Amino acid sequence: MWHNSSIAYLVMGFGVLAATVGQSAAPKLPAEPPTGPFGLSLIRTADNAHADIDLFQATETCGVCHPRQLEELTGSMHLASHTDPLYRALAETARKEAGPKVYAFCAGCHSPAGVLTGLIPAKLDPQLPVAAKAGVNCDVCHQISALTGTTGPWKEPANASFTIEQGMVKFGNYGNIAENRSHSGEKRDFFGSSELCASCHTVIQPMNGFHIEETYDEWKAGIFSKKGIQCQDCHMRTVEEAQKVAETLKPLVLTGKSVAEGADRPIYRHYFVGGNANADILAGGKTHAQMAEARLKGAARLELKSPAKATAGKELVVDVLVYNVAAGHSIPSAVTELRRLWVELQIHDAQGKLLFQNPGLDDHGDPRAGAIAFGAIAGDKEGKPTFKLWEMTRFLWKRTIGPKSFARDTVRFTLPADASGPLTVEARLLYQSASPRVVAEIMGKEAFTPKVIEMATARTRVSLTGL
Ligand code: HEC
Ligand code: HEC
Ligand code: HEC
Ligand code: HEC
Ligand code: HEC
Repeated sequence: MWHNSSIAYLVMGFGVLAATVGQSAAPKLPAEPPTGPFGLSLIRTADNAHADIDLFQATETCGVCHPRQLEELTGSMHLASHTDPLYRALAETARKEAGPKVYAFCAGCHSPAGVLTGLIPAKLDPQLPVAAKAGVNCDVCHQISALTGTTGPWKEPANASFTIEQGMVKFGNYGNIAENRSHSGEKRDFFGSSELCASCHTVIQPMNGFHIEETYDEWKAGIFSKKGIQCQDCHMRTVEEAQKVAETLKPLVLTGKSVAEGADRPIYRHYFVGGNANADILAGGKTHAQMAEARLKGAARLELKSPAKATAGKELVVDVLVYNVAAGHSIPSAVTELRRLWVELQIHDAQGKLLFQNPGLDDHGDPRAGAIAFGAIAGDKEGKPTFKLWEMTRFLWKRTIGPKSFARDTVRFTLPADASGPLTVEARLLYQSASPRVVAEIMGKEAFTPKVIEMATARTRVSLTGL
């Protein structure tokens, strides 16, 4: 006998509301989906001509002089953004069901070099040269010469809204680098700011303007952007450093060398770890998987509020609070239609007998009635749930916790008349990057089981008085 109510609160007036349902109105839509010179993706070159695959240097080539950056990037989801088997499976389904144009839309962010050279979608995956499958690597980011989002069709950064200029000039936030055997440098301020990341970390459904991934918007509306803390200040820092940034609300300046024989200058780590604890399976990144787990464990706090005393045969009311303490955006973020966060709550009596367990997720990863869960279910135009981005028109359900914000749920349970105290109330906050069933639907026989990560725990004791 339980029921459960949920309300979202703001901490100190900061942050985004914890519960978001549905979407703000989409902008007025053109008759045809907006396209750039390379199709539905807004990625472009300076002269809108095809890029040259040979001018995307191998990641390892940059690593000859920048071994630290190479080591950090190797094993990241960025470097594996094309080869990630979960992405490959869904992208190939996109190609099959929605056509090559939609597949090239995906690849604008997941394999920019492939799209700019026209090799994607022209060639099938096994025929692609290595450079076209390199994902988001050195020469993708450091050849970005301009951001085009605010002047583009959506008037905001999204869908790979940037220009790549190939050549000997590498762009960065520092700029005044000495000319060397490999390249010169030019300064672009946006390398130090979230807008660079926003161009790929905002996914707008090109057919209907629906905002599918909104990590940048979540950040922009929250306290971290107001304090001037950028994506780089957490994701180009170690987990411990990022934790400190989140606590103090102040960016950290790191000094070191960009090349072995270089002078000291501001440096940035290139791990780009978020919450993907399966980076070992998907990207060969054992270190990255461990870092993701650590990042998840530091991101949230769980608190239980219950009376010190309860009465057998009567109702016990427990408040469950989940705080987002260290993410610069909502948790979960980005592909919320796959990501899942939920609270498992158990009440045991003095003998250790389980009296109560709250409802969790069904085998599709969707919350059962009364579950305490966060994530989203996207729907197609008939209102049917779908994980296929090209079919999505809106969220049927979405509940996330904004930066430095919290969610509160109330669990009510009528205690058995013969219950013996004291009772132990225990809760675990769990995260899974996708439910095994959805992964199996996307990947078929190749499916893997995403790890369940325990992000936080809480426990209280309640003494009992008889009726
Ligand atoms: C032959 C050695 C060499 C190779 C190979 C090399 N670089 Fe560099 N790079 C340097 C040197 C030297 C600097 C200046 C370091 C300093 O400021 O201390 C530098 C600096 C940079 C910077 C900093 C720019 C800024 O504004 O902060 C970036 C970005 C960069 N390189 C990217 C790349 C990329 C991408 C590749 C591969 C396509 C690459 N480098 C290959 C030697 C190299
Ligand atoms: C605007 C850039 C962009 C476009 C376009 C885009 N994605 Fe992504 N995609 C991302 C980002 C960023 C993430 C990472 C989100 C995260 O880690 O939570 C991602 C994550 C994913 C994941 C989850 C991978 C994992 O291992 O958990 C899948 C699957 C995926 N995308 C498939 C697609 C498909 C299929 C399309 C085209 C229909 C597409 N994406 C279009 C940027 C994009
Ligand atoms: C997702 C985009 C992205 C990728 C991929 C990327 N970088 Fe960076 N890089 C940045 C940003 C952002 C900065 C920080 C601002 C700055 O210094 O320009 C940076 C900084 C740098 C710097 C100067 C600071 C430092 O730590 O030395 C160098 C050199 C550099 N990158 C080289 C590389 C190399 C080599 C690779 C590939 C192994 C690479 N980058 C991959 C975005 C990227
Ligand atoms: C060219 C597009 C592109 C740019 C630019 C870009 N990203 Fe990404 N990013 C992606 C894609 C695609 C993925 C997901 C790959 C996958 O999971 O298959 C991703 C994934 C991530 C993840 C999730 C990794 C994990 O372990 O869960 C983080 C964190 C991230 N990016 C941070 C950044 C930051 C910070 C910047 C800006 C400095 C940035 N990205 C710029 C495309 C991009
Ligand atoms: C204050 C530190 C902080 C800032 C600022 C920050 N992040 Fe994160 N980010 C985190 C933490 C902690 C996680 C792990 C928890 C999670 O997965 O939600 C994370 C997770 C992610 C993920 C994976 C989300 C998921 O659930 O799959 C992506 C993608 C990401 N960040 C991108 C970004 C981008 C893009 C920006 C800038 C617009 C940014 N982050 C700003 C701390 C930060």
